[in-house]
Amino acid sequence: MSEFYNKLIENNKKWVESKLAIDLDYFNKLKNVQTPPLLWIGCSDSRVPANEVIGAQPGEVFVHRNIANMVIHSDMNMLSVLDYSINILKVKHVIVCGHYGCGGVKAAMGSSTIGIIDNWIRHIKDSYRFRKNEIEAIVDEKEKFDRFVEWNIKQQVLNLAITSIVQEAWSKGQKLSVHGWVYGLDTGLVKDLGVTFSSHHDIKNSSIYKLNFN
Ligand code: CO
Repeated sequence: MSEFYNKLIENNKKWVESKLAIDLDYFNKLKNVQTPPLLWIGCSDSRVPANEVIGAQPGEVFVHRNIANMVIHSDMNMLSVLDYSINILKVKHVIVCGHYGCGGVKAAMGSSTIGIIDNWIRHIKDSYRFRKNEIEAIVDEKEKFDRFVEWNIKQQVLNLAITSIVQEAWSKGQKLSVHGWVYGLDTGLVKDLGVTFSSHHDIKNSSIYKLNFN
């Protein structure tokens, strides 16, 4: 095996030792319970590691990642993670965290074909289409890219808020907020985009999507 590969196993042993050095019961305590208060939906980008960014320890954040942090309402993977985290784990917050410089978003703004991923990127193009006039009015290329990264995140937060899963949780009186964040690769800092939804009332501008649960 390559040196790189062997190093991964070695790193794991060192990590275990470092945890046991602080608390001999560390893994015993973790093995039977999982009650994270938060679901993180982020980009697969290796530079945006969910746990590290928010200083979360094992057990503190449930994570779903895909290219460009998309919330696609027919994606069984995302729906399964969402349903499990809301209805079984009872998370109180869901954060959609995108990032500036996102390759998936950049690809969606152009016409190059990359492979099967073109089909996934089409979902980002749908998001672009909703904001086409505003995006194309921006002259500066970096500014255009940054604003679309933010708009895409906001669109995904709305997509999340109008899922049947989130709406049903609200209708049952479950405390649940969904938020949109953007992460700066060059600063390490996150910014709250101010698009928090905490009840049915917050989706009043998208009333066509509202579901009545009895
Ligand atoms: Co990305």
